[in-house]
Amino acid sequence: MGLTILDPDERGAVTIPARQRPSVVGTAADRAVAADAELAGLGQYEVLAGIDRLRQERGAMVLAHNYEAGAIQDLADVVGDSLELARRAAASDAELIVVCGVHFMAETASILCPDKVVLTPEPDAGCSLAASVTAPEILEWKRAHPDGVVVSYVNTTAEVKAVSDLCCTSSNATNVVASIDPDADVLFLPDTALGLHVERATGRRLHLWLGECHVHAAISYDDVAERARRHPGAELLIHPECRCAGDCLRAVEDGSLPIRGLTVASTGGMVAHARGNESEVALVATEVGMLHRLRKESERTRFVAVRDDAICEYMKAITPAKLYRTLRDLEYPVEVPPGIAEPARRALEAMVAVSP
Ligand code: 13P
Ligand code: SF4
Repeated sequence: MGLTILDPDERGAVTIPARQRPSVVGTAADRAVAADAELAGLGQYEVLAGIDRLRQERGAMVLAHNYEAGAIQDLADVVGDSLELARRAAASDAELIVVCGVHFMAETASILCPDKVVLTPEPDAGCSLAASVTAPEILEWKRAHPDGVVVSYVNTTAEVKAVSDLCCTSSNATNVVASIDPDADVLFLPDTALGLHVERATGRRLHLWLGECHVHAAISYDDVAERARRHPGAELLIHPECRCAGDCLRAVEDGSLPIRGLTVASTGGMVAHARGNESEVALVATEVGMLHRLRKESERTRFVAVRDDAICEYMKAITPAKLYRTLRDLEYPVEVPPGIAEPARRALEAMVAVSP
């Protein structure tokens, strides 16, 4: 039985050269545009071809998170996890970056790229986890632990990052915490489940904020066990934001979960794992957009969602029609005031420097 708590070395992002990008005619992107009443008059082909034309005319790079709808993933230049998207934005020479992901991802790109224009197709694409902590709450927490090192998950607002010492993503959280003086108190926020994962992986006790993502918190151990019963011998991929990850690890160890192997990984880690994977069936405990990405990576394996309704409505608020409008009208710019961006950039640059 393979049991891995991983943050694999190999990153899972893909860059799709424009010439090799598959035709979107007849795909989910095609259907999504057809269903958009406001753009119906334009014709879906014009919208889809328009995305390509405008992207070239404007010299734009389109980044998409692994949870985006399949249509958006198929239209993007780069598809990846939070860390990879931040790194690709920072390294890009494009003057215009469109982030198809939730608001904190666009904010992160904007902070890391102060000289570039960063746009989001949907300014209301929030994140329940990022909403679970505010900067004044952290300052209050720090008063109780004045020497504590504040490590913020990247799923936070720019204001929260600005009062943090370091940021991390789910793919490098363990290494970020391991890089801190072992005698220091670490205040880890906002995701309790990710903090517990880091505690298990490092053997270190952290002060944990009580925050959660509504999508991952809804995936229970019973959901995993029920899917495992239906697919005996399948392997399990689980995102560390899932509260039930600890129960799954214990159940694998005592033999009560009949699976072939368990991997706790970020979305990029899941992609890297799928590339070298021989399993017939893999159960996937995270947001369902991940399945589109995994199915493209490995045709050998059948990927099955642990919960079909694990849908992040914020990620899915971005549609091809909105992406088209963004490129056409240059809306909506994401800007962070310098007084917040500068301290937040220090914490983010420290994050980008730590490998997964
Ligand atoms: P990753 O960093 O694994 O891509 O996760 C981002 C996220 O929002 C998970 O809910
Ligand atoms: Fe935020 Fe959860 Fe959506 Fe990820 S899945 S962006 S943590 S609400």
